[in-house]
Parts: sequence; C-alpha cells; structure tokens
Amino acid sequence: MMRDFFPGLAGIPAAKSSISFVDGERGILEYRGIRVEDLAEHSSFLETAFLLLFSRLPAKLELETFNRDISQHRRIKFGIIDLLKALPEQGHPMDALQAAVAALGMFYPFHDVREETTRYLTAVRLIAKLPTMVAAFARLRRGDEAIQPRDDLSYAENFLYMLTEQVPDPALAKIFDVCLILHAEHTMNASTFSGMVTASTLADPYTVISSAIGTLKGPLHGGANEAVIHMLEAINSVDRIPMHVDDKLSNKEKVMGFGHRIYKVKDPRAIVMQTFAQQLDCEAGPQSLFTLARAVEAHMETRVGSKGIRPNVDFYSGIIYHQLGIETDLFTPIFAMARVAGWLAHCFEQYQENHLFRPDQIYDGPHNLPYQPIETREPQFQ
Ligand code: CMC
Repeated sequence: MMRDFFPGLAGIPAAKSSISFVDGERGILEYRGIRVEDLAEHSSFLETAFLLLFSRLPAKLELETFNRDISQHRRIKFGIIDLLKALPEQGHPMDALQAAVAALGMFYPFHDVREETTRYLTAVRLIAKLPTMVAAFARLRRGDEAIQPRDDLSYAENFLYMLTEQVPDPALAKIFDVCLILHAEHTMNASTFSGMVTASTLADPYTVISSAIGTLKGPLHGGANEAVIHMLEAINSVDRIPMHVDDKLSNKEKVMGFGHRIYKVKDPRAIVMQTFAQQLDCEAGPQSLFTLARAVEAHMETRVGSKGIRPNVDFYSGIIYHQLGIETDLFTPIFAMARVAGWLAHCFEQYQENHLFRPDQIYDGPHNLPYQPIETREPQFQ
C-alpha cells in the first residue's frame, strides 16, 4: 500500500498544545493567547516564562516569588564549573551548555514527572542556571575565573554582568530582556519537538533540555543567528551584496536569517528586533552591520520576497547581540537561555498527557538478500 510521506513532517501536527500560536500568513505570534509584541512592550522575560509555564500571567506576589526563587538558584556547583573547565576552550559553547545541562540532572535527581513541586523547582533551576553556565564557559575558556551571580540584579542585568564584570546600562539590559522574551517560545519547532520526543519517554527535564539544546545548535535552526554575522562580515560592504547574495541564490545555498517553515511574511519578532538594532546602531557608517543587514534585506526582497522568503528572528537578533558586545558564538546559547522556558512548558504539557513518540517510516531498502561470505566482498572504502 502506498502511504504519503511528508519530509520534515511539514504541516503534520505532532501535538495538541495551548502554549503558543503562529499565523504565518498574517505574521502573528501569541504566547498563551497574548501577542508577542504586547509582551515585548509590557512584560519581562521571567514574567513571560511564568506565563508559558503556568498558562497565565502571575499576580504581583507570585511574580516576586518567582523572581526571588530564580535569583536564589543562579549559582552552579563547583562540579559543574570543574566540568566546564575540563572542556576544550576552542569547543563550541553550545556543546559546553548541552554537557553542563545533562550533568546538572546528575546533581538533582528527578524522580516523579507527576510531582508538581519538583517540576516547579526543576524549571526554576534550569531557567536560573543556564545563564550562569553560559557566562562561566565564556570566561573560563579565556582563562578568567567565572563570576558569581548577583542576586540584586535583574535576570538580564545579571547575565551581562557575569559576562563582563560590569553592571550594564539598564536600557541595554532591557533590550536584551526583550530579546529573551521574543525567543522564549515558538510552537512546534525542531528543538521543541526533539525535547518532546525525549519527554515522551518520561526522561527527566534536564535530559529533555539537553536534547533540545543539541537540536537548537544547527545552522538551520538557532545556529542561524551566529551564521548571519559571519555572512555579513564576509559581505563587508554594501556594494558587494548583489554579488554575494546572487551567488548564494544561484548555487541554491541558503541566505542565513531568511525564510521560515511557517512565516510567509516578515517574522513579527524580526520587526521588533529591527527597531532595537536600529536604536543601537551608533556606528551609523555605511559599513555598520545594521546598515549592511538592511541592504541585504532590501536586495533579498527584490530576489525572493515574492516566494515569502523574508527575515526571521535570527536575522536581527545576532546584530543586537553584536552591538551589545557579545561574542558571536554565544548567540545560540543565549537563544537556549530564552527558549528553555518554552521547552519546559512543552515538556510539562507532554508529561500531562503522554503518548510515546514512535512514528512510522516508509522502508525503501531491499529484502531477502543472501548473507555474503567475507572473502567474496569487494571493499568500497579506500
Ligand atoms: N535563502 C535562500 N533560499 C531560501 C531560504 C534562504 N534562507 N529559505 C528558503 N529558501 C528557498 C529554498 O531554496 C527553496 O527554494 P526552491 O523551492 O526553489 O527549491 C524554498 O525556499 C523552500 O525552502 P526549504 O528549505 O524547503 O523550506 P523550509 O520550510 O524547510 O525552510 C528554513 C525553512 C528555516 C530551514 C530555511 O528557510 C532556511 O534554511 N533558512 C536559513 C537558515 C535560518 O535562517 N534558520 C533560522 C530559522 S528561524 C529561527 C529558528 O527556528 O531557529
């Protein structure tokens, strides 16, 4: 019997979920029914994380408690610092983060996925400790000591402080916080799906999040924000854009930061981020990354805009992080710091009504082959 096959499961619902909603034709993204632009304007990352995890905005006291719980769990064990120190300094920080998150679960055994208090505490630990792990690896790999988190700083301020040992300008920390809100959740993307598959085996949330981190790393997903900067640096000047972009398009290569499985209009997150990138664009010269990015966007619009290939979230986020002075290979770990909220929400939703993911396949290999004796086999590898 012939069965339909959908490469990349495109358009196939893999779950019922009430966490977020995307309308790719109209450019709408909602978390628990609230437009992401409203959250960007009025909320904070931790309030948004609470919304994603518990399906509603917190009352004042609940938010204070959540903020305090997160601040109190920012520290990481010496064992995790030692683990990070043991990793090769030229290794990618996403790999360090994935290893550290997997190891974190060994320090905090998680037994019962139905236990709400344990789930809460696990969510608090993961949201609180990811930034500390990212910042620690960033410093340890260049021979500096990791900086202890500061409980008196906001989530965003504390992360930027742990990277640089400087308390950031509150306005810059606010922009960074909004970037985290915009990255916190995005329906059934590859990393969320990967985390849900792991959750469906009833593995603990640390294992779930480490699976999701591994999936986020690739350049077609979260790794695109880093790839955008490398691409803009390679282009280097506005007059080289047509040549560079057209070359890529005619070689059927992807232009990083463009296109999306769902959005056929400009990603609403990219619209908000573009405003911030413009605000931060103090270089203002013809060679600034923002100027280049705007020109790449304009050229792409003439070439592939009619196919619905437009900037996605990763196009302007990397530029903002670059403008904030953050090293390029930390951009995807920062994406993970934000998306952990969405991943956890999906993980808990999966536990709630679990059904083990075990899709089918369409076998198209041979059958009934004879077992060939080794002396008669021809080598294929040289
Ligand atoms: N540059 C050039 N052509 C593109 C691009 C792009 N960025 N994206 C899609 N296309 C073309 C593609 O070549 C194909 O053309 P044709 O029909 O002529 O063969 C068509 O559009 C469909 O592409 P696809 O790869 O089959 O579509 P998809 O739904 O699998 O693509 C995507 C989604 C995100 C993988 C893809 O757009 C892409 O690789 N973009 C670049 C990487 C990137 O920016 N990723 C971040 C995604 S958003 C944030 C996140 O989830 O992490």
